[in-house]
Amino acid sequence: MKIDWANLGFNYIPAKSHIRYTYENGAWNSGVLSTDHNITLPIAATCLHYGQAAFEGLKAFRCKDGKVRVFRPSENSARMNLTLRHILAAEVPEEIFIEAIRRVIADNIEYVPPYGTGGSLYVRPLHIGSGSRIGIAPSDKYEFIVLVVPVGPYYKAGMKPVDSLVIEDFDRAAPKGTGHIKVAGNYGASLMPQHITKERGFQVPLFLDAKSHEYIEEFGTSNFFGITKDGKYVTPDSHSILQSITNKSLMEIASDMGMTVEKRPIHKSELESFAEVGACGTAVVITPIRKILIEGKSVFYGDECGPVLKKLYEEVTGIQYGERPDKHNWMLEL
Ligand code: PLP
Ligand code: COI
Repeated sequence: MKIDWANLGFNYIPAKSHIRYTYENGAWNSGVLSTDHNITLPIAATCLHYGQAAFEGLKAFRCKDGKVRVFRPSENSARMNLTLRHILAAEVPEEIFIEAIRRVIADNIEYVPPYGTGGSLYVRPLHIGSGSRIGIAPSDKYEFIVLVVPVGPYYKAGMKPVDSLVIEDFDRAAPKGTGHIKVAGNYGASLMPQHITKERGFQVPLFLDAKSHEYIEEFGTSNFFGITKDGKYVTPDSHSILQSITNKSLMEIASDMGMTVEKRPIHKSELESFAEVGACGTAVVITPIRKILIEGKSVFYGDECGPVLKKLYEEVTGIQYGERPDKHNWMLEL
């Protein structure tokens, strides 16, 4: 294994192993680590035909004191179970979720990027229906897999601001659909908008609410937040947005810093009123937005990361790498 730690992007690199738990006859087995990066499934598996596929994303960090810690895994466990309930799939008890993460990271410990490289170990829990059905019905067999990938910045430029395009011809999620949960199908629906965004020379699609196309929802892989000219942290409130754990954490950090935090519908006309706009999520951390093109009009925020986003970024990554006090007890030591 030879990894160029300082130049990692967000690309799949096979690690040593993954862990896999199987649910059958109403119970989870005790999980097996495997160095085989392939899985075998019945051709009629519900994950292949009927969308019984859910995933999560979280990160493990090599901290300043040499220890490895994971950011808020209980939150991902709760969100995965919210997703699973919606698609009638077998829930994963939090103890198994955390145990799976501990075991797979321990077995892949050399894949956690060294402290100081800016990298982290992306942890990807995946949950799939593996029983056969031809009529539409939930499976009675499931696989809960956790794989890990050493990663660097999601966008090549790192903290350099990226350009966003407001998507007018496609919706990410229906108002009462599956936008709030992490089903694989949501990402299938975002591939074409993502492709169009890139073709037009932008990096990040920004979705509006599907019902009225009047309100800001979220980016393709991350939540939206804006900093108003008077220093408020504002983020959209909508049922069809994924409840980002990074956003939730940034709201707490902003509030700790004395900022006013507002989670409320954001009308598209408000885009012009923000001093700074950011995309936030596990993969993108905080990525500043340089400009947003909406209905043919460009709203410009800046060629460099703004001061408030920079402060929030330094605080959240400072907690993650063990450089700043973890006063909310967000980090789980392995
Ligand atoms: N929104 C979408 C559509 C995402 O895929 C993600 C990534 O998980 C997020 C937001 C950010 O969520 P989190 O901060 O929990 O990673
Ligand atoms: C994450 O940030 O974990 C995501 O799931 C976003 C993307 C890689 C799908």
